[in-house]
Amino acid sequence: MDFIKRNYGWVIVAILAILPMFVIFSMVNIDLSNGLSISLAEGAGEGGRTTLEMLYHVSGEFAIRWMTAVLTCTPFFILFGVTNLFVRQAMGIATAVWSFLHFAIFIWAEGFLETFAQFNYIAGFIAILILIPLFFTSNRRSMKLLKTNWKKLQSFAYAAIFLSLLHVAILEKTWMIYAVIVGVGFILRIPFIKEKLIARRKGRRTSIN
Ligand code: HEM
Repeated sequence: MDFIKRNYGWVIVAILAILPMFVIFSMVNIDLSNGLSISLAEGAGEGGRTTLEMLYHVSGEFAIRWMTAVLTCTPFFILFGVTNLFVRQAMGIATAVWSFLHFAIFIWAEGFLETFAQFNYIAGFIAILILIPLFFTSNRRSMKLLKTNWKKLQSFAYAAIFLSLLHVAILEKTWMIYAVIVGVGFILRIPFIKEKLIARRKGRRTSIN
């Protein structure tokens, strides 16, 4: 109980990230009777989508949502002064796990080599490659080991969101809302704007006290 009390933010992220996995599992039939064989459940798609399209949709949407959320942590801190490294790391892990799952579905359905058949897949693939080191260094030990390089490494997340948005935009799926949220975040990060906002927030706090 004490663990949950101290880490409730982290626990909420874990629950939100894990629950939709059950939706994914409900769309496939897993048969263990003869080794491991996975097949698509029939008619699990919604809104005219096939089951496979639905799998891409759910996994891709969660991947981009978590990526947007994790990149919104710094703007959130600038605006409200609230930050939590543990929650941020959990969000980063959720981003990577959903993205890897999305890609795993693709490899399972179309094969790895198909990744290089379209430019938008290649953009997604580079984003996945970037997420691998980010995923493995999203912990305190790596932070301590890499020191200032850790921040530099994490800034590759900017390239990952750009490539992911490109991937989704070329596919003509929902991308604008994520681009706007991330874009506003980048405006708030501009040093001049950031310093003004933080100074205002601190000024407000001292005037309340
Ligand atoms: C090798 C990497 C990737 C491959 C091969 C891939 C492949 C695909 C495919 C086949 C679709 C479905 C296209 C369609 O229905 O017409 C899709 C959709 C999508 N992908 Fe990816 N993807 C990759 C990486 C990523 C990454 C890194 C993200 C985000 C973090 C992402 C986010 C999305 C989103 C949001 C959609 C649209 C889902 C929808 O609304 O239907 N993908 N991707």
